[in-house]
Formats: sequence, structure tokens, C-alpha cells
Amino acid sequence: MIDQKPSISIRLRDRQAQKALEHIVLSAGRYRTSSSKERPDLLIVELTDNFEAEFSQIESLLQNNAIGEVFVTAAQHDTALLRQAMRVGAKEFLSLPIDEIEVNNALDAFQKRRKHATVNEQAAHNGKIIHMMGAKGGVGTTTVAVNLAMMLAELKNAGSIAMVDLNTVFGEIPLFLSVKPNYHWGQIAKNMNRLDTTFLLNAMAKHTSGLHILPSPSYLNGHPPATPQMMEQLLTAMKKTFDYIIVDAGLSLEGPALKTIEMSDQVILISLLNLPCLNNTRNLLKSMIGLGTVQEGQIRIVINRYLKNADISLKEAEESIRKEIFWNIPNDYKTSMSAINRGVPLYEVSPRANISKSMAGFTDTLISGGKRKAPKKSWRLFGR
Ligand SMILES: Nc1ncnc2c1ncn2[C@@H]1O[C@H](COP(=O)(O)OP(=O)(O)O)[C@@H](O)[C@H]1O
Ligand SMILES: [Mg+2]
Repeated sequence: MIDQKPSISIRLRDRQAQKALEHIVLSAGRYRTSSSKERPDLLIVELTDNFEAEFSQIESLLQNNAIGEVFVTAAQHDTALLRQAMRVGAKEFLSLPIDEIEVNNALDAFQKRRKHATVNEQAAHNGKIIHMMGAKGGVGTTTVAVNLAMMLAELKNAGSIAMVDLNTVFGEIPLFLSVKPNYHWGQIAKNMNRLDTTFLLNAMAKHTSGLHILPSPSYLNGHPPATPQMMEQLLTAMKKTFDYIIVDAGLSLEGPALKTIEMSDQVILISLLNLPCLNNTRNLLKSMIGLGTVQEGQIRIVINRYLKNADISLKEAEESIRKEIFWNIPNDYKTSMSAINRGVPLYEVSPRANISKSMAGFTDTLISGGKRKAPKKSWRLFGR
């Protein structure tokens, strides 16, 4: 089970006081104490004589979003200290010795603020779903999906970004980004009735870029397969929480993937300039449009591993698939492999490599809504 109760970290100096406060906090059953590795939703900390340093620590923890809220407590009780505490962002000043009524009132207010924030967040978003799929295995779907998501996460104005891995058994997003997720969508599926912003944000793994990741379960571990209904509920909740949801669907064209295609704003079909891939691309286009799950105009073709002097030109490819190619990403095995092996995005391996610049241009063009333009302008965004 995923625990959605707010987590609280308590740091008082006196053991007796610590125990007393823990007892009050936990007795209502609405909160849990946070583990050392997670971000506490609330930190309750006692100020010492060294309060100047503690205030600046609190301020930086809040600024980095490493904690949700802070309550401070102190044996001394002067208004200057209290005022300074409020200035650095503490929400409450609890007196010592601990007063149960005061603590409970403060916790009620904390709970109210959380509810309010959640509702506001939900109202603020109507996320776009970008469904990424490959014409064949190994064409680079995960590479392009992960790098698109990372670039969006780096763009300040793109908002909050999530990635969902639909590749059961062989999901690789955590590997590409060196994150260790606690939960996957199989477990979230069992908690559908609790699906809201707070729940999702707690359950998803967070990359340092701010990207939120929902990896896939492995059938081999006995998790039931996803259903289209489950995908619909999950994506509906995600749309309320994030601005962009990037789905790495790989080769999947089963019920859940068809559902995400249907809910997508854009479908990115990744292919290579060779006959089998172009053949598959043509057939996939026909099937998707034929099924009526997606409109032709929502599908964008991306040629990966592009080589200028290839046997087949972009123009010939366009004629064979009877659709315009939206973007091409140059062949660069060295940079792409190094990115995978180091678990970092392409621009971190080599910001000046053509493959990184091309990914930046692709990201920029995709979210600016449309027509590909001269890629030069967008380079400056990521060129370092
Ligand atoms: N533009 C590129 N140039 C060269 N190699 C690439 C490129 N994009 C991806 N690759 C390589 O292709 C392989 C498969 O990539 P991956 O993203 O896992 O594909 P998929 O998700 O479609 O199976 C990896 O070894 C990756 O480094
Ligand atoms: Mg993949």
C-alpha cells in the first residue's frame, strides 16, 4: 500500500519532549513520521542558541522544496525570535513544554493548507499527453522520450513534467535517468480511489531536474497487466497534476497503449530511414488513423539516427509513408550510449553535440505548437 498520510519529521533536543510530541502527532492516525530518505511534508524543529544558523538552514530547505512546511519550537519565547521565525517561512511557533491543544490546532491548520493547495494545483493544470512509440524495437523511443522530458523539465516555462513507462517487463526509464523509484503504476492501480495530486506526487519518483517518473511493473513479478480503464483514470489524474505527460509506449499497441493514444494531444512515432522501419511506419499510421483513435494531424514522424548520405533520402521516405517528417535526429551512437551508461540526459554528456542541439530544437518546436522552424533559434536555450 502506498501511504498517503503526510509525513512529519520531529527534531526536539529533549527525549522526553520528543516522545510526547511524537505521541500527539501519531495518535490521531492522520500522520506518519518520515523516513530519513524522504522529503517531510512537515518539519517540527527546536531552535537552539545557534538559531541564526538554524534559520538560514530552514530558509534554504524551504527554498529548495526539500521540506513542505516548518513549525519551530523553543524554550525561550521572545517576539523577536518569533518574528524572525515567521520571516524565514515557519508557519507556527510551538511553545515548550509541548501543549497538546496548541499542537493539534497547528496541525489542523497545516492540514487545511494542504487541502487548499491540492485543490488549487488541480485547478491549475490541464496537462498535455505526448505519446511516444517506435516503428520497431531499438529505434530510440526511450532515448528520445527521456531526453524530451528532461529538456521540458529544464525549461522554466514548460511547467511540471511527468513520464510514464508503458514498457512492461523491460521498462528502462529509471535506468536512463539513474533514479530508484519506490512505486510503479501497477501499485498505483491498486489505489485508484485515492488518486489525486498529493497521492501522485508522493508515489512518483522525482529526478533532480524536477521530472516525475512513474515506471512500469514487471509481469514477471506477478503484477496484473494494465487495463485501458486504469490507464484512463491514471492519465486523467496526471493531467490535473502536470503540464506535460510523456508516455514511453515503446512497441505496445495493446489496450492500455491504445487508450493513451486516444487521450494524447500528440503521438510521436519514431522511425529510422530503412525499409522495414518505413514499412512499419506506413502500416502503423494506417492502423491508428483507421481505428479512429487519433487524427492524422496529431501524429508526428521523427527519424532517429539520421545520416545525411543514407541510401534513402528524407524526401523518398516522406513519399513512401505519405506523410511529412516532422524532425530528424542525427546518428550519434557514442553520445547516446554514454548518456545511457551514465544515466544522464544527452545535453549533460555533450551539450554541443548535434544530437543534443537537435533534441533541443525538437522539444522547442513540439511545445511551441507546431511547424518545424529553423532549428538555430532554439539552440541557444540549451547551448552551454
Ligand atoms: N540518435 C541516435 N544515434 C545513435 N544511436 C542511438 C540514437 N538514439 C538511440 N540510439 C541507440 O539505440 C539503442 C536503442 O535505444 P533505445 O532508446 O533504448 O531504443 P528503444 O526504446 O526504441 O528500444 C541504444 O543503444 C541507443 O544508444
Ligand atoms: Mg525503450
